[in-house]
Amino acid sequence: MSGASQSSTGKTPEGEGNIVHVTMIAAAAAMGGFLFGYDSSVINGAVDAIQQRFDVGAATLGFTVASALLGCVLGAAVAGGLADRLGRIRVMQIAGVLFAVSAVGSALPFTVWDLTAWRIVGGAAIGLASVIAPTYIAEVSPAAYRGRLASLQQLAIVLGIAASQLVNFGIAQMADGSAHNMLGPLQAWQWMLGVEMLPALVYLGLSLLIPESPRYLVRVGRVDKARGILADVEGGGTERVNRRIGEIREALGSEVRPRLRDLTGRHGLLPIVWIGMAVSAFQQLVGINVIFYYSSSLWQSVGVAETDSLLLSLFTSVVNIVGTFVAILLVDRIGRKPLLLVGSAGMTVALALAAYAFSNAVVDGEEVSLPFVWGAVALAAASLFVLFFALSWGVVVWVLLGEMFPLRIRAAAMGVATATQWLANWLVTVSFPSLRDWNLSGAYLIYAAFAAISFFLVWKFVKETRGKTLEEMTG
Ligand code: GLC
Repeated sequence: MSGASQSSTGKTPEGEGNIVHVTMIAAAAAMGGFLFGYDSSVINGAVDAIQQRFDVGAATLGFTVASALLGCVLGAAVAGGLADRLGRIRVMQIAGVLFAVSAVGSALPFTVWDLTAWRIVGGAAIGLASVIAPTYIAEVSPAAYRGRLASLQQLAIVLGIAASQLVNFGIAQMADGSAHNMLGPLQAWQWMLGVEMLPALVYLGLSLLIPESPRYLVRVGRVDKARGILADVEGGGTERVNRRIGEIREALGSEVRPRLRDLTGRHGLLPIVWIGMAVSAFQQLVGINVIFYYSSSLWQSVGVAETDSLLLSLFTSVVNIVGTFVAILLVDRIGRKPLLLVGSAGMTVALALAAYAFSNAVVDGEEVSLPFVWGAVALAAASLFVLFFALSWGVVVWVLLGEMFPLRIRAAAMGVATATQWLANWLVTVSFPSLRDWNLSGAYLIYAAFAAISFFLVWKFVKETRGKTLEEMTG
């Protein structure tokens, strides 16, 4: 570190800080990402049991599953304002409580409607966590480590998804292989939704231990406290800490409030804002979360036994983790655009193959089954799809959104793009049960078509951002 000699104590290299402490803090905040993944996909193993227990049709089921995402939009919308008013830590604590309360409520519902309401509460927690984790991490990390953190968030999300599938599988095993069966006083699916209380409490506990963001403390005039935290987290002596306080003050002074008005030019929304919204929407329109929210039900709808379907969902989550590591290794080496293009091409082929495999399902009265060979092809196709998604669009879209907009409009544009993403996610999630009942193969053809369009979108409109400084980005 070149600045090490300037440190007045000479003990801690400047800008590196106490790495153990910083890692712990970042991990605690990233628990937000973990719960984001966990909460959004935990419903996967419970979907069919919920449909039977409350005897609801495809449309209601779609609405209940997608309801968490409506909460997300809400939580994400208020997170920034709350974080400035109450502090970053307080927002994490609120999210932790909401996660825990929603887990208990969802596990003990009276009707499908209060279940839906509890899922919205959990969704609001996801929305809060999805905004506060990256903000807090960026604010407390020394510059030298900040770059890797956009990827850390996605890694936390995919680990959360995998953990929920593992827990669902384990619970079903304990209940003789089915989410419908009793396990003690409750049905297994209720435990699936309730167990989330544990990671929620861990998150809450960690948020009681980690320090408030110095940037927030300076903002509200608690400068002495900010000094202590900066010295601990970033290292360096009094002189350096004072300089950092000065920098924070300056940055706060020139801070511009995100205004939607800034996103428009003479011809409506600025082109770069459209592009940001489009990549966000297409990340969802390829149907990735059909896999993570509904895969168990998807496999059962073509005749796979329930235990096997839960195992397949777990397998898919592992593929997702592997793909995410590959993306993290490649994103700074080969760039964002080539990764997205490879991902779109691979997803198109895999989705078309899945559509073809599903078209071979045999319907016999109420029973639907897929001949063994086509079942194997469908599984291979779905796994390839997840792999191509994870090594491209999964990570890259989050990285891209953080860096593609000019500074002046970054916060507002990111807000609009993220909202677009939740909305597209909601649309796909709410419509899947009805699409599945209409024609599963047709549903997959639609996702394949979106993947093909996403290739041309990237090809024509996305500019490479690798190796550019954030200040070089222009509309
Ligand atoms: C990305 C998507 C999220 C999806 C996840 C799957 O984070 O934004 O919706 O569940 O990837 O890995």
